[in-house]
Amino acid sequence: MDYKRTIIITGGAGFIGSHVVRLFVNKYPDYRVINLDKLTYAGNLANLKDIEHKPNYAFVKADICDFPKIQELMQAYHVDGIIHLAAESHVDRSIKDPFTFARTNVMGTLSMLQAAKVYWESLPEGYENKRFYHISTDEVYGALEMTNPEGLDSPFATKASSEHHHAYGTDFFTEDMKYQPHSPYSASKASSDHFVRAFHDTYGMPTIVTNCSNNYGPYQFPEKLIPLFINNIRHHKPLPVYGKGENVRDWLYVEDHARAIDVIFHRGKTADTYNIGGFNEWKNIDIIKVLISTVDRLLGRPENADIDLITYVTDRKGHDMRYAIDSRKLQRELGWEPSLQFEEGIEKTVRWYLDHQDWMDNVTSGDYQKYYDSMYKNR
Ligand code: NAD
Ligand code: DAU
Repeated sequence: MDYKRTIIITGGAGFIGSHVVRLFVNKYPDYRVINLDKLTYAGNLANLKDIEHKPNYAFVKADICDFPKIQELMQAYHVDGIIHLAAESHVDRSIKDPFTFARTNVMGTLSMLQAAKVYWESLPEGYENKRFYHISTDEVYGALEMTNPEGLDSPFATKASSEHHHAYGTDFFTEDMKYQPHSPYSASKASSDHFVRAFHDTYGMPTIVTNCSNNYGPYQFPEKLIPLFINNIRHHKPLPVYGKGENVRDWLYVEDHARAIDVIFHRGKTADTYNIGGFNEWKNIDIIKVLISTVDRLLGRPENADIDLITYVTDRKGHDMRYAIDSRKLQRELGWEPSLQFEEGIEKTVRWYLDHQDWMDNVTSGDYQKYYDSMYKNR
């Protein structure tokens, strides 16, 4: 079949990437979607079981840092679009091992950019109808102050906002804000964002960057707060709350992020930046209490039976106090809005993890890493 477009989605076996791959493969049967992933500890091909046999989907096991390999793939598949999600994504790991973050997030992004540049510049039409879309994070902006610890009604509530419309300050991250990353993770993402913009400014590559807030939903690796705590509550294991649990994060359902990526990939303005979020701030301790009451209710346990699992532990080094995204530009210019209300999203998420204990057990036992060998190695 002649495909209308051929796009590489990097990091497609990870949490957000798998939702983006699924959306594109299902929604655009006339696009060839290549999932390029190294399958680090965070990559799990079982996340894509439901679409892996679709004719417009292909998986390639490769390291984004392997420049010759990426170049070869660009040419072999005639790639005209890249949605780049592959990264080391966990802040705690970056504090222990910053080198891996610089390698993957900075050098890996540079290798993707350079491979795209060499291939696209070799074509008669050059950069026409090409796109390099880089997925970044709100953490590059640093941390906001918590000026209203009791919480306010958010002035810009969207469907994703909690019924309580929490906001813990009056300032938000906007697209023109100064970059002030604090962790090795956010410093590496900030650096990669700069490289992407430099490739537009220097070579004219049609790039785009988005910075999103914390995602939640199915298929998230259980090192991150929400899946880790759901699984611990289920098994009556302690919940390690960093510091006082007062830090604030702004949560967006992962499928709403994937929908934003679709809209921006197709209609976003070249060389522009969009912040993605749902005006849905939560203190960690409050979200943890919601998780406890939801898990206990869904498992038919007495109300708050597991509240004593909360265990305050040493704070994360350099722990950013508050993140809050202002996504009004994306709403105004491209008409994107979250579709899922937070209370529905969190209920759906808890249910998904409770109903997919096999997925969780495969991840925690390490068995998920055998999936590639059994399904792909000899193809
Ligand atoms: P994840 O850790 O779940 O997945 C990362 C994926 O990248 C994995 O499949 C892994 O195998 C792959 N990968 C890692 N190193 C690679 C390499 N060298 N070559 C090829 N593949 C490699 O991450 P996630 O949470 O899905 O995040 C995806 C992207 O979105 C990241 O760029 C992250 O910075 C960004 N982001 C995440 C969030 C969030 O809340 N999770 C929010 C905003 C932005
Ligand atoms: O803001 C977007 C970012 O969100 C993404 O760029 C990152 O890739 C993603 O991992 C996420 O970063 P956070 O550090 O905010 O997510 P995490 O789930 O690790 O932690 C959420 C909050 O919960 C944070 O304040 C730290 C706290 N926490 C986390 C863990 C894992 C705990 O208190 N205990 C824990 O065990």
